[in-house]
Parts: sequence; C-alpha cells; structure tokens
Amino acid sequence: MSQIQLKEISKVYADGYEAVKKVSMDIADGEFMILVGPSGCGKSTLLRMIVGLEDITSGDLMIDGKRVNELAPRERNLSMVFQNYALYPHLSVYENIAFPLRLNKGGISDEEVKKRVGDAAEMLELNDHLERKPANLSGGQRQRVAMGRAIVRDADAFLFDEPLSNLDAKLRGQMRTEIARMQRRLGVTTVYVTHDQTEAMTLGDRVTVLKKGVVQQIASPRELYEQPVNLFVAGFIGSPPMNFLPARVEDRSLRLPFCEVPFGEEFADKVKGKDLVIVGLRPEFVKDAEIQDPVPGAVEFEADVDVTEWLGNELYAYIPFESDEAVRAKLDELDRDLDGEGMRTQMVVNLEARSRVREGERARFFFDPKLMHVFDPENGDNLTRNEEEAKRIAAESEEDRKRALERAKRKEAEAPA
Ligand SMILES: Nc1ncnc2c1ncn2[C@@H]1O[C@H](COP(=O)(O)OP(=O)(O)OP(=O)(O)O)[C@@H](O)[C@H]1O
Ligand SMILES: [Mg+2]
Repeated sequence: MSQIQLKEISKVYADGYEAVKKVSMDIADGEFMILVGPSGCGKSTLLRMIVGLEDITSGDLMIDGKRVNELAPRERNLSMVFQNYALYPHLSVYENIAFPLRLNKGGISDEEVKKRVGDAAEMLELNDHLERKPANLSGGQRQRVAMGRAIVRDADAFLFDEPLSNLDAKLRGQMRTEIARMQRRLGVTTVYVTHDQTEAMTLGDRVTVLKKGVVQQIASPRELYEQPVNLFVAGFIGSPPMNFLPARVEDRSLRLPFCEVPFGEEFADKVKGKDLVIVGLRPEFVKDAEIQDPVPGAVEFEADVDVTEWLGNELYAYIPFESDEAVRAKLDELDRDLDGEGMRTQMVVNLEARSRVREGERARFFFDPKLMHVFDPENGDNLTRNEEEAKRIAAESEEDRKRALERAKRKEAEAPA
C-alpha cells in the first residue's frame, strides 16, 4: 500500500505539445482516485507518467515520500491495466494470471503462485475457467483475467486506464461493482481513468476533473456535484447535465428566461459590475407545481413544454428558451470543451413519473433558488460556491472512506485464512 503524490507535474511531448500542466495531487494510502475529463485532456499521459512508461518533463512524483521520477516501471512496483489489455492467446487463463509472478525469477514458489492465482480467481469468479484459453472467453471474462493479472502481484498501487471501455453497458455495470468490491477488500491505492460519468461518481473516493491538461477540481463526487468550482466541472458532472441559463443582473434580482429571482445584499456584492451572468440549475431541482406545493422562498414560473419523455420512473420535459448572444458564445465554447452535442438552448427538467406535464402544453413549475449556481460568464467561476459547505462535505467523504477501509480490514481479519 502506498501514498502517491504529484507535485506540479508537467508533460511536454517531443513535438512540443504540452499535454499535462503543473498537476498536483495527494493520493492517500488506500484511496480510490478517479481521473476524468474529455478526450485528449491528458488522463492517459498522467497515468503513464505515474507508472513510469512516460518521462516526466518537470515536477516530482513521490511514492511513500520518496521521489521516483527516475525509477524504471518495474522498480516502482505499480500494477497497470490498459484499455486494450492484451492476453497471451497460447496461455491458459491460469498462466495468464500467473504471468507477472513467473517474471519474478525464482522468487516465488509454485505453491505460492498457485495460492495467489487461486485467490485472484476466486475473487474474480474465474475458478471454472482456469484451464481455458482467452479466445474462448467472453469479453467480461477476458477483462477479469486482465484484472487478475494486475492484482496477483503484491503491487503498491493499481492503475487502470479505462479498463471497461470495450465492454457493453451491462457488463460494465457488473465489472464496476466487482472493481469497487475488490478495491475495498484489498485496500490498495488505486488511480482509475475513465470517460464514464457513472464510473467516476460511483467508484471514486475522490475525482480529479481535468481540462486540457489542467486540474479543474479534486473533490469527492458529492462535492463536485453540489459545489463545483466552475462552469466546466458543473457541466461535466451530472446526467442529464446542469442547465445553463442566461441571466440579466438587475437592481435586486436576476432576470432569467422564464422568471425573475430576487437576491439579497450578500449576493449583490458578488455580481457587482456585471450585466450578465450564467445561472446553473440541475434538471431535478425543477418541480411540477401541479403535483407539489412550492417550498418556502420558491420561484414559480410558467413555460411552454416542447417535448416530454416518460421513462417509467421519471419524466423529462424539454423547455426551449431564447439565449443572449453573449451567453450563447460562452456556452458554445463550453460545449466544445465538453465534447458536447451543441444542444444548450433548451432547459431539461426531470420530473416525477406521475407528473401530467405534456408536450405542446404550458405548465407551471417551481424551484428553490438556494439550489441554483451562478457563474461568471467571463472566466466561468462559480460565484455561489459555498466554501464552508464544501469543506463539510469533504470531511464527511473522508470519514466515509476511512470507515469503508476499516470495515474491509476487519472483514479480512475475520475471514478464515
Ligand atoms: N506521443 C505523443 N506525442 C505528442 N502528443 C501526444 C502524444 N501522446 C499523446 N499526445 C497528446 O497529448 C494529449 C493528451 O493525450 P492523452 O492520451 O493523455 O489523452 P486522454 O485524456 O487519455 O484522452 P482519451 O480520453 O482520448 O484517451 C492529446 O492532445 C494527445 O494528442
Ligand atoms: Mg486515454
């Protein structure tokens, strides 16, 4: 087990491209850290620098307090699973998993190999397949063999680069829970790269959001969701994504496309000198006023619903709005950064399944303005981020993480050897 620290790590490739820019993070012993961000933001580069497959241009990489920039991959004792994992086709599942142990010449007895492969196979439910060849396995089974090969070694940390991206949705879901269980049980420090929202939110103790090689925010999933630092993080985390609405700053209120939101003294300071801001409102914060009584202080509005989608457990309603030119430009830029589909001039609201809101009709809604975020249209900063609340969430998440690790350790100690 290991603590991994990155201190202002940068990567400039041979062609001069700067893929990673002064990235710093502390990954605690036993922590599950996720790296997430749009394609090309430097996730794989970062992982490859940690494992030693890519030179670090500048900065320090520390493992358990020791600088390891110059150590060869083998000397770092980290175990990596790649997106396109390659199994040896001529070797059995057993020998594929045992492979890293065989490399350790003479160091590990046949008995020990058998025990370790057995343990890994047990955990990954591969016991029935040990004598089979990779070509005859399903995608998920092959993925588990690759995983087995990574965990069979006594590595100080696991590094995963989108290990599930080749699997279909159902298998991904299954493997996701397997990985979560395995990581907790082994308590091994893990760095995991993904594109996938759900993986990022469910697996990580903390998540690092990257944009063009620069860290935007490192926080627990809950903090990212509730207290994003900027427009980019707010738009990246959550599905369907947060709605971004243009808002004119008036004397004591914000004028949104459908309604006016009054604000107080404290907020007035934050938007002083600005004509225009971007309001962020998550789809689930908007409620159907016909079936629910507005909460105290709620802002009510009427709007024309363009399309509805009933999904059994919930109902999505799409409400188009006119966007300001200035805000449109900013949101288009954000959309490009997020690899989006350019559909930002309609608001999506996520209503209860029993809602009778129907397409082509006018409907009444409300939301609690305390839940909305307000962003600076110039630099994207979240003007309503509550630092104290963020700290509280961070402390809570850290507590949860420690408890989960202790639980796993207790279970391990109680388990028959
Ligand atoms: N060998 C290389 N030489 C020059 N540039 C490179 C090299 N490898 C990667 N890059 C560039 O560095 C940037 C980061 O690449 P990287 O593979 O780390 O992205 P990523 O976040 O893993 O993306 P994806 O989600 O698509 O896998 C990209 O813009 C890429 O074009
Ligand atoms: Mg990659």
